[in-house]
Amino acid sequence: MVNIDYVKEIKRLKEEKKAVILAHYYTVPEVQEAADFIGDSLALSEMAARTDADIIVFAGVHFMAETAKVLSPGKKVLIPDPDAGCSLAESCPAAEFARFKAKYPGHTVVSYVNTTVEVKALTDICCTSSNAVKVIESIPADTPVIFAPDRNLGGYLKSLTGRENMVIWDGACHVHEEFSLERILELKKEYPRAKVLAHPECKAPILLMADFIGSTAALLKFTEEDPGDTYIVVTESGILHQMKKANPGKNFIPAPPLDSTCGCNDCVYMKMVTLEKIYKCLRDESPEVIVDEQVRKKAEGSILNMLEIGA
Ligand code: 13P
Ligand code: SF4
Repeated sequence: MVNIDYVKEIKRLKEEKKAVILAHYYTVPEVQEAADFIGDSLALSEMAARTDADIIVFAGVHFMAETAKVLSPGKKVLIPDPDAGCSLAESCPAAEFARFKAKYPGHTVVSYVNTTVEVKALTDICCTSSNAVKVIESIPADTPVIFAPDRNLGGYLKSLTGRENMVIWDGACHVHEEFSLERILELKKEYPRAKVLAHPECKAPILLMADFIGSTAALLKFTEEDPGDTYIVVTESGILHQMKKANPGKNFIPAPPLDSTCGCNDCVYMKMVTLEKIYKCLRDESPEVIVDEQVRKKAEGSILNMLEIGA
């Protein structure tokens, strides 16, 4: 069997094919290191909209690659593993969501980008955890809102904005739902100086005890600017790679779910992306993300509305 140097081969294929690799912070460290650009969902969609590469390899989950295709229909968008889904996006099937929407006429529909392209096609404005507050505040206070699909982020937005006229779809992410308040409190006893950093997809009791709440990019930025030295990180463990790189002298402790043996919490879908799969998809220019043009056109408006609002 021939041993392939994936890092070298990926670099060669990228240059040969004028391709760019975009990776989310939750992917494994070696994938992050092979990427041209690493970011949170918002930064990755902004990058997908403005890159001049011919091919985008999306090292992340399916809805992210789909968003890139919606924004750059003329480019080839490749996904290293098409089975890398998202439990949150799956918790909101488009047909059920259409029936839900029909029950609330006159509502503006705001959807988190963690949705399928068909749900985005039923949406007025998308948002990510980076700009959700700004998106909600861009809608007149007397206009009722449907927020989908994350109930935890929805509840957090409702408490931050004081917006009572918001109905929330009952969906969740398996990773953020599983973090254990009990285990975080135990870690706080062990590391009394540690600050708790949480993603807004976590449940309300965890958000209530967190020192800082934000998207993956905002959590990373906080660790760079904060004078503290120890952090309990309550989001997917992939982000710790960039936190440690940016802050070599600081201590980062991943928060675990109740029954964790590894002491951390991984998104099984993000962890499906490997260097070998990136190499093969660049070599074969497959699997490619294909989006029906009619659905794409309907979904595009909701993503562009979000990009216009910005971070
Ligand atoms: P970010 O918007 O922070 O990138 O989060 C994406 C995600 O999938 C959270 O689970
Ligand atoms: Fe989806 Fe949760 Fe994985 Fe993010 S961490 S991609 S929301 S399953």
